[in-house]
Amino acid sequence: MKRHLISAADLSRDDALLILDTADELARVSERSIKKLPTLRGRTVVNLFFEDSTRTRISFEAAAKRLSADVINFSAKGSSVSKGESLKDTALTLQAMGADAVVIRHGASGAPHRLATWVDGSVVNAGDGTHEHPTQALLDAYTMRSRLGALDGRRIAIVGDVLHSRVARSNVLLLHTLGAEVTLVAPPTLLPVTVRSWPCEVSYDLDAVLPKADAVMMLRVQKERMNDAYFPSAREYSRRYGLDRDRLARMSEEAIVMHPGPMNRGMEIAAEVADSPRSTIVEQVANGVTIRMAVLYLLLGGETQ
Ligand code: NCD
Repeated sequence: MKRHLISAADLSRDDALLILDTADELARVSERSIKKLPTLRGRTVVNLFFEDSTRTRISFEAAAKRLSADVINFSAKGSSVSKGESLKDTALTLQAMGADAVVIRHGASGAPHRLATWVDGSVVNAGDGTHEHPTQALLDAYTMRSRLGALDGRRIAIVGDVLHSRVARSNVLLLHTLGAEVTLVAPPTLLPVTVRSWPCEVSYDLDAVLPKADAVMMLRVQKERMNDAYFPSAREYSRRYGLDRDRLARMSEEAIVMHPGPMNRGMEIAAEVADSPRSTIVEQVANGVTIRMAVLYLLLGGETQ
C-alpha cells in the first residue's frame, strides 16, 4: 500500500481487498463488549476538519481510539485558521507535534494532496471539495460485499447529484477496481463534463436502470455547493430521480438501498425507503468505523514500525 490514502485510485485491487479483509477481522473485535485493541498505542492521529461533518469525523475518532492511538481533534472553527493561518502553517504545526497520521477534510479539492507534501506522517483524505472521499467508497464496498458477496460483475447504480459528489467519484474508481459495473444516473446538469472518461456507464433514466441493479446508492442533493439552478424544482427532481416506495418495489428482491448520509428525506429518498429493511444506511455508518480502523492499522503498520 502507498503511504497516503488520497484517492480511491491509490488502491490496487490487492490493496482494496486487503483493507476489506482486515476490516472483516476487526469487525469481530467490534462485536465484543470491550472494543479496544492495543495496536496503535503511542501513535498520534490528528483529525483535521475544515468542513462540517458528523459521521466521518466521529467514525475516524472511534476507529483511532479503538486501536489505542492518541487522538487530537482539530476543527477550523475556534482555531488560528479563523485568524487566517494557512494550511501550510497548520500542517507545519502538526508536524512539529509529531502526528503519525493526519485525517483531513477540506472544502478545496486537492488540499490532502498538498498536505502530504508538508508532513511526514500518512495523510488520509476524509473528503476534499467535490473531488474524493476514499474511505466512504471503502465502507460502501465493504457493506455491499457483506450483503451481496464478491463484487465482480455486480451492477451498482449511483443516483443523483454526481456533479458535487466526492462519494460518487471515489465509488466509481473503487468499484471498477473491484470488478463491479457502475451506472451513474442523474440529470445532465448534475453530471461533470468529464464523466465520459470515467470507468462507468451513464444514464438519465432511473426507471430503466433500477430493475437490473444489485445496489442503488442515492446521493444527497448538495445545496450548499449549488450556486445556480440545476433542476426546475425539488418536486420535479424527486419525481424523476427520487427513490420512493413504488420505485423500491420495482427493484430486484435482493437489491439493497444505500446512502452515505446526511440524507434529504423526501427529496432524493423517501423516509419509508430510508427506514426499510432493504436500506443499509445505518449499517454503512457502523461499517465506517471498522473500515477506518483497517485503513489506520494498515497505514501505520501496527506496533512494529
Ligand atoms: C458525504 C460527504 O461529506 O462527502 N457524507 C459523508 O461523508 N458521509 C456525502 C454528502 O455530504 O452528501
